[in-house]
Amino acid sequence: MLRHPTPRLARTGPAARSAATRPAAVALLAGRAARTFTALACAALLAGCSGADGTGVTSPPPPPLPPPPTDTVLALGERLFDAETFGGNGRTCVTCHMRETGTITIEAVAERLARDPADALFRHDGLDGGDAGVSRIAANATVRVELQLPPFVTLANDPARRTIVVNRGVPSTINTPALDGGVRAALMYDLRHNDLQAQALDAVRGHAKSTVTPTAAQLDAIAAFEKGNDRFFSSAAIRTHARGGPQPELPAGNTESERRGRLFFLDKAVAGTKQGMCGECHAGANLNEVSELGARESGSAGLLPGAKFGSTLVAETNRNHDPLYTFRVDDGAGDVRLVSLPDPGILLTDRRSASHLAAFQQAGLHPAVNAGFFKTPSLWGVRLTPPYFHDNSAKTLRDVVDHYANVFFKRFTFVGAFVELTEQDRQDIVAFLRLL
Ligand code: HEC
Ligand code: HEC
Repeated sequence: MLRHPTPRLARTGPAARSAATRPAAVALLAGRAARTFTALACAALLAGCSGADGTGVTSPPPPPLPPPPTDTVLALGERLFDAETFGGNGRTCVTCHMRETGTITIEAVAERLARDPADALFRHDGLDGGDAGVSRIAANATVRVELQLPPFVTLANDPARRTIVVNRGVPSTINTPALDGGVRAALMYDLRHNDLQAQALDAVRGHAKSTVTPTAAQLDAIAAFEKGNDRFFSSAAIRTHARGGPQPELPAGNTESERRGRLFFLDKAVAGTKQGMCGECHAGANLNEVSELGARESGSAGLLPGAKFGSTLVAETNRNHDPLYTFRVDDGAGDVRLVSLPDPGILLTDRRSASHLAAFQQAGLHPAVNAGFFKTPSLWGVRLTPPYFHDNSAKTLRDVVDHYANVFFKRFTFVGAFVELTEQDRQDIVAFLRLL
């Protein structure tokens, strides 16, 4: 439980956070908002708790599966994803979401740069300042993403400016379109898209600088292809699940180390053990949902089970030294807070338009509560998609686990106590991650 007053115009960066005493693991944001959540507030939400559809928090009823798309639609989607430039700068979806990994690794960037420096990847938002230079993409495999500031956010030192540029990795398109693209879709690192068609349109305009607007039928075909083609699944079990089959199970593990690593990913805690430390946010079919345990631990961040977002202090750590912005966040009721981060994440996403955010967060929180929160990525197939985190700041799985051990679980408790991750724990977790 967090007992930290909420000062006006407080710096809400790491300094303010460390002032909190024994915060819970998922709580993250010290004293940003009182826990005034009630069942009534919950019922007023879009449909997150016992909401409009009258179901529980975790499992909105699966919608009836639509009829499978025809082969003609899938073939059109494949052509558009792989080859159509829409009269733009020569890029297609596969320029960044490569066939085997759904993303670009640093290794792939190096190979492509060596093979052909004129590769469409090295244009526009792939370049250092948007116009020249490949040092950033070569080092981190990130691209520049330009974002509009919503009306309630301004830059403290430049109030007239309405856009910012952040450096983000390319999230893998494997498993995501089918598993995160349905009811209350959670798309993009900041959850700003709720459907695959709007996302594809944005990509065609933004990354590919199209001069020809895709038709609704073309956008539907891209979405159908991403949800249906085998390329977009890391295993047959996940593909079967996407087609209405059972939820994929965590692998049992072959070695003692893998079996010990698996325990961290279960979604229930056992008193006195470390079980569930990772599962509190990496539960559900795509291993990216907050579990009941995670929701209880989330404290003033007010996450509900099923939320596919959280903060693990990656932006706050800023290992890549991306440029820092100071945001002035106004809740419209006189409570203005300052936040300094290189990437504000979900802060810029209007809760009213992001159905996932609205449905899986308690009502009435100050918008600044979500600064530094990002979409929780799937962990299936994660061994194939380095680097990791939204800024690609963790180059290996070991770097990821060291971040949790040295930063996150140093700042936040797990079930009421600070927990160390030993060298053996770290090796076990990496061994298990490599099985997914
Ligand atoms: C220049 C590289 C680039 C190109 C080209 C590109 N994307 Fe992306 N894609 C990205 C980046 C970067 C993000 C994350 C951006 C963010 O969160 O702000 C992303 C996000 C996505 C996501 C959401 C993934 C998730 O985890 O939520 C999907 C789906 C996607 N892209 C599909 C497409 C499609 C379809 C096309 C072609 C129409 C396309 N992309 C073209 C770089 C690219
Ligand atoms: C508080 C919720 C939370 C907890 C606890 C948590 N994660 Fe995460 N995980 C996230 C979020 C959110 C991200 C994305 C962070 C970002 O990009 O800034 C993430 C990202 C990752 C990634 C990177 C995936 C990618 O494709 O970039 C890995 C791997 C990962 N977590 C593994 C773990 C492990 C191992 C543990 C336990 C030691 C763990 N997580 C505990 C929420 C959590």
